[in-house]
Amino acid sequence: MYPDGNIVAGYIPGAEPKGILLESGPAELADVRNAQQLAAIVDKYRIDTIYNLAALLSAVAERKPLLAWDIQMNGLINILEVAREKGCAVFTPSSIGSFGPETPHMNTPQDTIQRPRSMYGVTKVATELLSDYYFHKYGVDTRSVRFPGLISNVTLPGGGTTDYAVEIYYAAVKGEEFVCPIAAGTYMDMMYMPDALKAAVDIMNADPSRLIHRNSFNIASMSFDPEILYNKIRETYPDFKMRYEVDPVRQAIADSWPDKMDDSCARAEWDWKPTYGLDEMTADMIACLKKKFNL
Ligand code: SER
Repeated sequence: MYPDGNIVAGYIPGAEPKGILLESGPAELADVRNAQQLAAIVDKYRIDTIYNLAALLSAVAERKPLLAWDIQMNGLINILEVAREKGCAVFTPSSIGSFGPETPHMNTPQDTIQRPRSMYGVTKVATELLSDYYFHKYGVDTRSVRFPGLISNVTLPGGGTTDYAVEIYYAAVKGEEFVCPIAAGTYMDMMYMPDALKAAVDIMNADPSRLIHRNSFNIASMSFDPEILYNKIRETYPDFKMRYEVDPVRQAIADSWPDKMDDSCARAEWDWKPTYGLDEMTADMIACLKKKFNL
């Protein structure tokens, strides 16, 4: 959609872009905690839309709550200030992590109780509120979605509660036993990366006159527990073995999150519709990982 270097990738030291990311366009050092650095990049490339993807995920944020706050909140206010001064639109994802134990877990409504108890969740609720604040007060075009656990065959996640749903595919394809940190029967929303990318682009291109909500829209495509995922993968790898070693930190977080979100507002206000269900994702994950590991 945006050829010829129209997208500038931001990175931090130690995470320099390589491979397809490096080849596909310009990249700049962009620490969200450095407002001057951000402003200079926006000026240099005349950037009109910022995708603010910098965050510590839920489990690592419990280990480093102050760093999570610094990246998520100080980073966000820097982005929003640059956007206000320079007229950029801003996408900062929220998450299933913005919900908490008192939230209705089944068909979680768009507008409902949000009292998360993890630092990740606290920063995600604050992100939604601050993004809406900048829209109402300054007219900054902020929009976003509440991502489910994202599953990709390109980059491994780190420090999230939903990471198991990515790692299990790697274990299966490599012929290794999988040790699952999340208990059987724990349902969470998940999404394949191509659908997540589509959502991120579609929401920013949506007709603003149709938007009743802004920050953030529930979006959903599939919900499963470790057993369902394990049995789906065993259709391809019947000898694949999994055992449980539940991590109490991640389990408590997972228990507080929705089993399944209702995404009818996203469907009504900007025609959200996912492409991948569990069957399609599993087939593609296995095919891509086999290729990646020459298997
Ligand atoms: N994937 C994230 C996590 O597990 C949820 O947004 O922390």
